[in-house]
Amino acid sequence: MAPHELAVDWDALRSAARDVSRRAYVPYSAFPVGAAAYADDGRLLVGCNVENAGYGVTLCAECSLVSALVTGGGGRLTAFTCVAGDGELLTPCGRCRQLLWEHGGAELLVETPRGVVTMAEMLPQAFGAEDLNR
Ligand code: THU
Repeated sequence: MAPHELAVDWDALRSAARDVSRRAYVPYSAFPVGAAAYADDGRLLVGCNVENAGYGVTLCAECSLVSALVTGGGGRLTAFTCVAGDGELLTPCGRCRQLLWEHGGAELLVETPRGVVTMAEMLPQAFGAEDLNR
């Protein structure tokens, strides 16, 4: 376990994710998702999924969390968790891994059913902002 990981209150993060999952707008899938993260300034951010009659327009919980990060002043995500309505841990979908990479980078800690891993492990050989500078 990395030293900075010891400071992360994963129980509080999971509990916040569980709470916000109750606000999910999921008339189509009936599959609520809640996400929670800490930013580098200590802010706690949450997000839930918001579905749409145009199914592909659905916003994942991670989208709403990243919007909260940016609208709340920006910063970097340092620790992230995501749960389904039953409280079980979920790993982010492919698109959301890219979102998390943008706003947390390789070192972002992600809680998964297999334990805490880094974003670099969640999204190996990621495409990112630095690739645009070639
Ligand atoms: N969902 C998320 O919110 N995050 C994920 O990482 C996986 C999927 C949502 C989208 C949709 O509302 C529901 O879960 C079923 O796919």
